[in-house]
Amino acid sequence: MATSIPHFLLLFLFAIQCIHAQSNEEHGCIAAEVSNSGLDFLKNLLVEKAESSLVPLELPVITKSAKIPVVGNVQMVLSNITIETIHVTSSTVKSGDTGIVIDVSGATANLSMDWKYSYNTWLLPISVSDKGRATIQVEGLEIGLTLSLKTVEGSLKLSLLECGCYVNDISIKLDGGASWLYQWLLDAFEDKIGSAVEDAVPSKIKDAIVKLDNLLQTLPKEVPVTDIASLNVTFVNDPLLSNSSLDLEIDGLFSAKNEVSLLSTNKRHRFIQDSFSCKEADKMVAISLHEDVLKSASSVYFEASKMHWIVDNVPDQSLLNTAGWRFIIPQLYKKYPNRDMNMNLSAFSPPIIEVEKQQIRGKIPLDVVIDVLDADEVIPVACISIVISTSVSAEISGNTISGSVKLNDFTMSLKWSNIGDFHMRLIQTLMSTTLKTVVLPYINLKLSKGIEIPSFHGYELRDPQLLSEDSWIVICSDVASVEAVQNLPGFLSM
Ligand SMILES: *[C@@H]1O[C@H](CO)[C@@H](O)[C@H](O)[C@H]1NC(C)=O
Ligand SMILES: *[C@@H]1O[C@H](CO)[C@@H](O)[C@H](O)[C@H]1NC(C)=O
Ligand SMILES: *[C@@H]1O[C@H](CO)[C@@H](O)[C@H](O)[C@H]1NC(C)=O
Ligand SMILES: *[C@@H]1O[C@H](CO)[C@@H](O)[C@H](O)[C@H]1NC(C)=O
Ligand SMILES: *[C@@H]1O[C@H](CO)[C@@H](O)[C@H](O)[C@H]1NC(C)=O
Repeated sequence: MATSIPHFLLLFLFAIQCIHAQSNEEHGCIAAEVSNSGLDFLKNLLVEKAESSLVPLELPVITKSAKIPVVGNVQMVLSNITIETIHVTSSTVKSGDTGIVIDVSGATANLSMDWKYSYNTWLLPISVSDKGRATIQVEGLEIGLTLSLKTVEGSLKLSLLECGCYVNDISIKLDGGASWLYQWLLDAFEDKIGSAVEDAVPSKIKDAIVKLDNLLQTLPKEVPVTDIASLNVTFVNDPLLSNSSLDLEIDGLFSAKNEVSLLSTNKRHRFIQDSFSCKEADKMVAISLHEDVLKSASSVYFEASKMHWIVDNVPDQSLLNTAGWRFIIPQLYKKYPNRDMNMNLSAFSPPIIEVEKQQIRGKIPLDVVIDVLDADEVIPVACISIVISTSVSAEISGNTISGSVKLNDFTMSLKWSNIGDFHMRLIQTLMSTTLKTVVLPYINLKLSKGIEIPSFHGYELRDPQLLSEDSWIVICSDVASVEAVQNLPGFLSM
C-alpha cells in the first residue's frame, strides 16, 4: 500500500485548520475536520489499495509427518504457499480516543501452493512420492487494526497500535493427488494454513503502514500556491480524534517563497465548529480558514509590490484630462492646460480582510498619485490617500474560489501636492466615480478569475459550499476522484 496513498491524505490535510483545546496552545490557521463519511472515503481507498498491494504474499513452508492408516508413515511438505488475491466485502472505520479503528469483517482470499509427500510402505520395496498444486480458498477473513496519528515535528506520524487477523473457514482444492490425501490435508493442515495466514497478514500490514508513514514524513511542509507565494502546510498540534470526526490543523499562513511568514502563528481561539452546518449537510470534510490566512496572503502580495497599477483609460475619458478638472482644481488646468493625465494607484499597506458572520469586509488603503503627461514626461502633481471599505462576497464553484467586492464607503486625504492646496470635498464626486467605474471593476475582474484549488493526484473537492463565521471561512465539501466525474454520462458532467 504504497505510493499513491498520501496524495488523498494530502488533499484532506491541505484543506484544513485552526481547532482546539488546551489553553495557551498555538493554533494553526487552517483546520480540516474529516467527518465519518470522509473517514469512510479514506478507508475505502486504503482498503482498495491494500487489496492489491498486500498480495502476492508468501507464507512459510509447512511440513508434517503422520501415520495414516493403511498407507503408513507419510512425510508431507507444503511449499510456495502464496496468497494470490484478497477481496474485502465489508469494512468499517471508527475514530475514537484510542485511535482510528478499521475493521474488515468480511474478506476472502485465494491461495495457491505446491504439495509433496513421500512414504515407505511394507507393500512396496521403494518409497512412494507424489506432488502437485492446490488452490485454497479462505472465507470469512477478519482483520482489525488500530492506527494512531500524531504530529511530530510538523509532520503526521502514523503508527500501527494493534493488528489482528482471524480465519474462519478454509477450503482446499487439489489438482491431482490421491483421494486419501484430500481429507488428510484438511485434517492435518487446515489449522496450520489458517494460522500462517493469521500471522502473515498482520506482519505485511505492519510493513505497509511503515511505508505509508515514511511517505507522510516526505510530504512537503510548504507548497507553492502562486508564482510568488507558498502556503505553510506544517502540521501543528496532534490530530484530534473523536467519535464523530478527525480534526487536523496546519499552520496555514502564506509567505513569500522561501521566506518565513511575516505573521506568526499566535494564540488563536479554539474553533467551535459544532455551530456549522457541514455536519447537517453530511459532507466529508470541513475546511476552515482563519482570516489570518487571507492577511498573510495580502501581505505577501503587498511586500512583493504587486498591488499597484496605472489607470489611463476610463469610461469618461474627460476625467483624464486637465480640462475635465478645470473647475475643480483650476490651478492644475492653469499650469498644464489640456494635458492628458493618469492615476498611479498603489496600496500603501496590505489590504485588511475581516471575516464576520455571513459577511467579509475588506479595507483597501490606496495612494492615488495624479500624473500629468507632458510630452514624454510623467509629472506627478499630487497624491491622495484613500481608504476604501468594501463588502466582499466569496463564492465557491467547482474547484474555484472567486469573489467580488462592493464599495461601502471611502475616506480620503491629501498626502502631498505640487499644485497647492485644494479641497478634498471638491474631488469627492470625481474620486467616487473613479472608484466605481474604474478601480472596483478592475479589482472585480481580477477576483472573478478566482483561485483554483488544485486537485491532488486525481482527487478534488465535490459540491463545495462556503460559509463565513466570526473570523473563519468554512468550506464544506465532499471529495471525489477526478475520474469519477469524467466517467459520468455526458448530461451529468456538463
Ligand atoms: C510458486 O508458485 C508460483 C505461482 O503461484 C509460480 O509462478 C512459481 O514458479 C512457484 N515457485 C516455485 C519456486 O516453485
Ligand atoms: C477465488 O477463487 C474462486 C474460485 O476459483 C473465485 O470464484 C473467486 O472470485 C476468487 N476470489 C478472489 C478474491 O479472487
Ligand atoms: C460520541 O460521544 C459522545 C460523548 O463524548 C456521545 O454523547 C455521543 O452519543 C457519541 N456518538 C456516537 C455516534 O457514538
Ligand atoms: C511554518 O509553520 C511552523 C508552525 O507554525 C513554523 O514553526 C515555521 O517556522 C513556519 N515556516 C515558515 C517558512 O514560515
Ligand atoms: C507609481 O507611484 C509609485 C509610488 O507611489 C512609484 O514608486 C512608481 O514608480 C509610480 N509608477 C509610475 C509608472 O509612475
